[in-house]
Amino acid sequence: MFYQRPTLSKFLIEHLRDAPDGPDLSALLIDVAAAVKTIAAVVAKGQLHVRGAAAPDRATTNVHGEVQKPLDVLTNEIVIGHCEWGGLVAGMVSEELEAPYELPDGLRARRHLLVFDPLDGSSNIDVNVSVGTIFSVLRHDRDEAPGARDYLQPGRRQIAAGYAIYGPTTMLVLSVGRGTHGFTLDREIGNFILTHPDLRIPETTSEFAINTSNERFWEPPVQRYVGECKEGRSGIRDRDFNMRWIASMVAEVHRILMRGGVFLYPRDTKDPRKPGRLRLLYEANPMSMLIEQAGGRGSTGRGPLLDVVPESIHQRIPVVLGTREEVERIERYHREHEDGTDRPFVSPLFNERSLFRPEAL
Ligand code: F6P
Ligand code: MN
Repeated sequence: MFYQRPTLSKFLIEHLRDAPDGPDLSALLIDVAAAVKTIAAVVAKGQLHVRGAAAPDRATTNVHGEVQKPLDVLTNEIVIGHCEWGGLVAGMVSEELEAPYELPDGLRARRHLLVFDPLDGSSNIDVNVSVGTIFSVLRHDRDEAPGARDYLQPGRRQIAAGYAIYGPTTMLVLSVGRGTHGFTLDREIGNFILTHPDLRIPETTSEFAINTSNERFWEPPVQRYVGECKEGRSGIRDRDFNMRWIASMVAEVHRILMRGGVFLYPRDTKDPRKPGRLRLLYEANPMSMLIEQAGGRGSTGRGPLLDVVPESIHQRIPVVLGTREEVERIERYHREHEDGTDRPFVSPLFNERSLFRPEAL
């Protein structure tokens, strides 16, 4: 019976019963879930309520004469509003704020830091494609109010991570370090219900996701990997691959958790000042934790994302994550490239099975 499935609150009470800061962490995650429900309601209203995030004129006025904020600003305020007063976070870092959000004086001595991307994939809002919220919780062990340096902890130190996806259904996918679990929002009742316990990423996949319009800017190991996938059965992979690109990281990671696959946003030479597109603290790290807790792997292409020591709160990083076997293959291609033992990618016209292979000519 559906009512026997645990709600998010019941799940957290059971999962965090023995954790030292279990009650506080549970309460914080319940606050985050409340923010997610509010964002789900706002996002679902679309043009009925607010203008899309990509609206060129940013703040606009609706028919009632009320000021409307773009959704990225509004969703940022929703998360802060829900999490600031519960007595649980010492500070917050958001993709939408240049500096860490400081709590008013008198609200100190709290033990958790919340970092988040309030509306990931927001360019998809105006075309009615899935978007999401990504978040991560870190410990704050000092008694003083946190400064930017306190957030610069490697992803391994995350005590919780998750995302919400606003698609045909709203789901919350969460890890507190004991597996990755999916909850579906029952809108009539207003509860998140555990519908996808203990997600496991399949061990093999034939699906990859990358923005191939950047192909000419990629490094050779990524060109080699994607080139081999595209060769399919006529190349060394010996099977055909399928490609997806939603341009919404939350939706890509969700697909990988549901049926496997690999997602890449690698380093490229398009803008040499940027060592990748995605942000380490509130995109790469939480997603890596969820993927690793589901049996997959998250990497920079050269090593585990979760071991990277952040240098700044909005730092960008190359991201390769998903089915372990594929991520390890991509890491091997990087190693082989660095020590000069890689197999250069050869055009399908000249591969091993081609009539045009050089020795056959
Ligand atoms: O937050 C960054 C993001 O919107 C991700 O959700 C998504 O994966 C990526 O950017 C899309 O990038 P591009 O515009 O290159 O397709
Ligand atoms: Mn984002």
